[in-house]
Amino acid sequence: MTSAAWRVRVATENDRALLAGFRCASGTVAWECEVEFEIQNRLVDWALAPGAAADDPTILLVFDSTSGDLVGVIAHERQFLGTNALDKVAATKLHLAAVAAKWQGKTFPGGERVSHVVMNAAMSDIARHVPPRDARVFAIVHERNTRSLALCKRFGLVKALERNDPDYLILATEHDPVK
Ligand SMILES: CC(C)(COP(=O)(O)OP(=O)(O)OC[C@H]1O[C@@H](n2cnc3c(N)ncnc32)[C@H](O)[C@@H]1OP(=O)(O)O)[C@@H](O)C(=O)NCCC(=O)NCCS
Repeated sequence: MTSAAWRVRVATENDRALLAGFRCASGTVAWECEVEFEIQNRLVDWALAPGAAADDPTILLVFDSTSGDLVGVIAHERQFLGTNALDKVAATKLHLAAVAAKWQGKTFPGGERVSHVVMNAAMSDIARHVPPRDARVFAIVHERNTRSLALCKRFGLVKALERNDPDYLILATEHDPVK
């Protein structure tokens, strides 16, 4: 999905100030504030940490072409699902996803939902990654984060895996077991 209405690029070290000013929390909702704090203060370091290179952490920025606004941020990395050597499988983790507060619930002029474009940017990037990533994608979402849960569902992250934290769901895409 491409359009002249938005553009997507990978974030770099030079985007620290841009990300420091990004707002996606609507008030004092804890899980929204957590995501906003992470984007403003830690995301670039997360991606650039020398020890993380093997996980191939990637931050994608989505801009509105008309205003130049940063409308969304989404990050992913190579990870594993499972708890021990026997059930561990390669996967891609959506580290976080966010739509800028003033763009939440909005669409681009062609009718595409901003949240959909942001999520699609990550799913497309994962699909064409070199070296290839495993097709399984998962995310850890607060169980009361209704909008995030709906967005995950729209993109097929519907399989609820066993979780360690009672407040957070682990949602993964369905996949065929190894035959
Ligand atoms: C989560 C987020 C990316 C979704 O983007 P958005 O533009 O707000 O989402 P949309 O308007 O497209 O709405 C998503 C869904 O929630 C539903 N929704 C919207 N407001 C809602 C509300 N108050 N209560 C219940 N559902 C609601 C929408 O109907 C939509 O459902 P659908 O996909 O079944 O049609 C955005 O809200 C955000 O950045 N939140 C803060 C950061 C965060 O929590 N990120 C996720 C965890 S990393």
